[in-house]
Amino acid sequence: MNALHQSPDTAPVATQTKVLQLQGISKWFGDNHVLKDVSLDVMNGEVVCLLGPSGCGKSTLLRCINWLEQPNAGSVFLNGQRMGAHKGGLKMNDADLAQMRSRIGMVFQHFALWPHLTVLQNIMQAPLHVLKRDAGEVRQEALALLARVGLAEKAEMFPARLSGGQKQRVGIARALAMKPDILLFDEPTSALDPMLVGEVLEVIRDLAGEGATMVIVTHEMEFARQVASRVVFMDAGVVVESGAPAQFFGAPQTQRAQQFLARFHGGTPAAR
Ligand SMILES: Nc1ncnc2c1ncn2[C@@H]1O[C@H](COP(=O)(O)OP(=O)(O)O)[C@@H](O)[C@H]1O
Ligand SMILES: [Mg+2]
Repeated sequence: MNALHQSPDTAPVATQTKVLQLQGISKWFGDNHVLKDVSLDVMNGEVVCLLGPSGCGKSTLLRCINWLEQPNAGSVFLNGQRMGAHKGGLKMNDADLAQMRSRIGMVFQHFALWPHLTVLQNIMQAPLHVLKRDAGEVRQEALALLARVGLAEKAEMFPARLSGGQKQRVGIARALAMKPDILLFDEPTSALDPMLVGEVLEVIRDLAGEGATMVIVTHEMEFARQVASRVVFMDAGVVVESGAPAQFFGAPQTQRAQQFLARFHGGTPAAR
């Protein structure tokens, strides 16, 4: 995927490229102004943890990145290429948009696996049918990905037979199968039994160690503190605060961030 992860101090400047650029994103649902002029850059190998209270617009922002929701204003750039529009402003057709979307891996809270396909088929589906790649090669890669998320022996099973943690690890393998430029996670562990959260976070932590570029919406504060290169805190549709995890968790600058973090004292969020 990306160059191996290095700390910001040692990473050569030349490898720091902007993978994702959000410029002035606004989104309304009817009268509800959900995203208000949100701008955010994500560099190659960066792990951005997106935090904020329920209803503040985190999922909508992720969905605007891959145009599952079309922003009402603002632009999304993926490796310099504008989502939804060609150079000169010509609107993209569905095929071009699908091609761009295929470079963004999405991992959902409720897994969204195909119930009628085996685990292996779930992972192979998009590389085969979207990228039209060779079946033998795709199969080999899918098996390797399953081994990587610790599920080599589950290849021929159907999702219904897996635990939530296993389903989510398949969801991650499926996203990785497209070799995306960036991975987006929308509360990947909040539908899980607490016992199963750790195994999923471990996989995401490994990806971070390998230099994957990721935006992760999570309520797992300890995980965010450990894995994030940068924390972005949103409230009511705006980015309120953004900074290194040590700074954000140790000395949040705004009252809103302080209040948000106070709810997590004791380790579990008061309200999810
Ligand atoms: N498809 C939709 N139609 C109408 N309103 C929506 C839709 N999706 C989200 N919203 C509203 O947008 C706001 C932000 O929601 P969301 O992005 O899901 O927040 P979060 O992920 O931070 O909990 C909420 O007020 C929610 O009700
Ligand atoms: Mg959400």
